[in-house]
Amino acid sequence: MRLDRLLANSGCGTRSTVKDAIVKGGVTVNGAVIRDPAFKAEETDDITYFGESIGAGSFLYFVFDKPDEVLTAMEDKRHKCVGDYITDDLKGKHLSPVGRLDYHTTGLLLITNDGELSHKITSPRYLIPKRYLVSYEGSPFDDDIKEELSRGITLTDMDKPVKLAPCTLEIRENNECIITLTEGKTHEVRRIISHYGRTVSTLRRISIGHLELEAVEPGSLRKLTKEEILQLKDMF
Ligand code: URA
Repeated sequence: MRLDRLLANSGCGTRSTVKDAIVKGGVTVNGAVIRDPAFKAEETDDITYFGESIGAGSFLYFVFDKPDEVLTAMEDKRHKCVGDYITDDLKGKHLSPVGRLDYHTTGLLLITNDGELSHKITSPRYLIPKRYLVSYEGSPFDDDIKEELSRGITLTDMDKPVKLAPCTLEIRENNECIITLTEGKTHEVRRIISHYGRTVSTLRRISIGHLELEAVEPGSLRKLTKEEILQLKDMF
C-alpha cells in the first residue's frame, strides 16, 4: 500500500498532512527516512511517524464499555468524553472510537488506530451487524412489526423521509428488546422505537459482529485478543 495511504489509514492525519510529513522527512520505514509518499510499504514494515511507531503490526484494538453521560469524542471541553479514559501510555497512539454512541447510550465501543478497519466497520456497504439492547416505555411490542422492520421502514420524523436498511427485532420480556442494525443513521434505534410510539429508557450496544462486551469493566479498556482481531478482519 502507498505509504501516505497507510499513514492516513492509521489515523496519523489526512492524506495531505501525512504527504507533507513524508516529504519533510518525518517518516521512516525499517529505519530509513522515506520522502516519497507513493513508496510501497508493507503491512509488516516497521514504520515511524515523527519518532512514533505506526507500522500496521503495531495497530491497537480495545473494547470499551462506554458509561452513560460520556461523549463519543477524544476531546471535549465541557463534557466527559471517551478520550478521558485513554491511559497516559496510550496517548499519542492516534486511537479513536469506531462509530459513535449517543451521550446516553452505554456499551460496546471499539477503539483503534486502524483507520481502514474502522472505516469498514462503520460503512453500510459491509452490513456488519450491531446489536442494541433496548428497554423502553410503552406497551410491549408484538411480532407484527418484525416483518415491516425486516423490509426497512421509512422514518418521517425529520425534514425529509429516511428509508432505513432492513433490521431485526427480538422481543424480550419486561419491555426489553434487541434491535440489530447494519447501518448507523443518527439516533437510529431511538427513532425506530419512537416511530412505534414508545420511548427508549436505556440503550446499550452489546455486540459488533462477533465482538461482544465480555470481560470489560464499565469505563475501562480491554485489549482485544488475537482471535478477536482476526474475527473482526474476517468479516470483510
Ligand atoms: N442508535 C441510537 O439511537 N443511538 C445510539 O447511540 C446508537 C444507535
